[in-house]
Amino acid sequence: MKPLRVLFVCLGNICRSPMAEGVFRHLVKEAGLEGRFEIDSAGIGGWHVGEPPHHGTRRMLAEKGVDATGLVCRQIRPADLDQFDYVVGMDRENVAALHRLHLEGKSPKACLLLEYAGEERRGQEVPDPYYTGRFAEVYDLVLEGCRGLLAQIRAQENF
Ligand code: 4NP
Repeated sequence: MKPLRVLFVCLGNICRSPMAEGVFRHLVKEAGLEGRFEIDSAGIGGWHVGEPPHHGTRRMLAEKGVDATGLVCRQIRPADLDQFDYVVGMDRENVAALHRLHLEGKSPKACLLLEYAGEERRGQEVPDPYYTGRFAEVYDLVLEGCRGLLAQIRAQENF
């Protein structure tokens, strides 16, 4: 069976989306579904290409026992919108940028991570911690969104 491809996207690909990539990988592994997924992350901007995640993200993942091996910053490519099944932005600006990258002007695959959160946080944005240092708050939001996304995919794909 073809793996389901999930791409997490934020502005810089060093704080929020690599955190989501690590957390989602962790949840998928816990569920024994590793072979069913290809998981990646990318940034709208290319300022940090080739760099590992921000130390705030690395510290948070280490604290939570989430493996951060192999997380390296890359920039989004228009082809990603065709190649991935789910392209998941952290805030509305990310989603708008993804729509602009798509040839038809509005990618049906670009969505907001917290669309998959519980009722209380549904539709909210994951705020950028780059200048605020609020990585613990970001982790909680990312975890909730990733849990919801995995549940939604499992229900939809029947696995
Ligand atoms: P991220 O945070 O989008 O969560 O990775 C940022 C990281 C770097 C920059 C902006 C946001 N930057 O401007 O370099």
